[in-house]
Amino acid sequence: MTIKLMILHGPNLNLLGKREPSIYGSQTIEDINASMIELAADLGCDLDFFQSNCEGELINAIHGTVSEYRGILINPAAYTHTSIAIRDALSAVGLPVVEVHLSNIHGREPFRHTSIVAPVAIGQISGFGGDSYLLGLRALHKYVSNSL
Ligand code: DQA
Repeated sequence: MTIKLMILHGPNLNLLGKREPSIYGSQTIEDINASMIELAADLGCDLDFFQSNCEGELINAIHGTVSEYRGILINPAAYTHTSIAIRDALSAVGLPVVEVHLSNIHGREPFRHTSIVAPVAIGQISGFGGDSYLLGLRALHKYVSNSL
């Protein structure tokens, strides 16, 4: 059966391309999703995408992954640093999670250095712009494939 993965984008990522391009680059969320669809075709997996600016909607999307998906790739954006609820939701569904960030959160303001989500992820990729998503997708796909 084809591996299906859920890609979640947190708040303000709908503005990518226009939002602080010196930090987040010029790619839009559609560009990033399209590059992941291309990679998924090579890897032979299926992807679904969801972006929300609302914590509860992201939590509902995480809950909705339980039966259909084998893993979650998430850029929780600012919720990375604040949301115990998103971390608990990820922990509750128990799927492998890869956390990604466009910018290097560890090289920025101190409040971005802590990820509340990281302890429930299998790994974190941070600082490679849109490529963080592609690296994260490869890592998640390999992890899931190896655990089949
Ligand atoms: C981000 C980093 C976060 O600190 C920030 O709040 C974001 C984007 C990133 O992808 O670099 O919105 O997750």
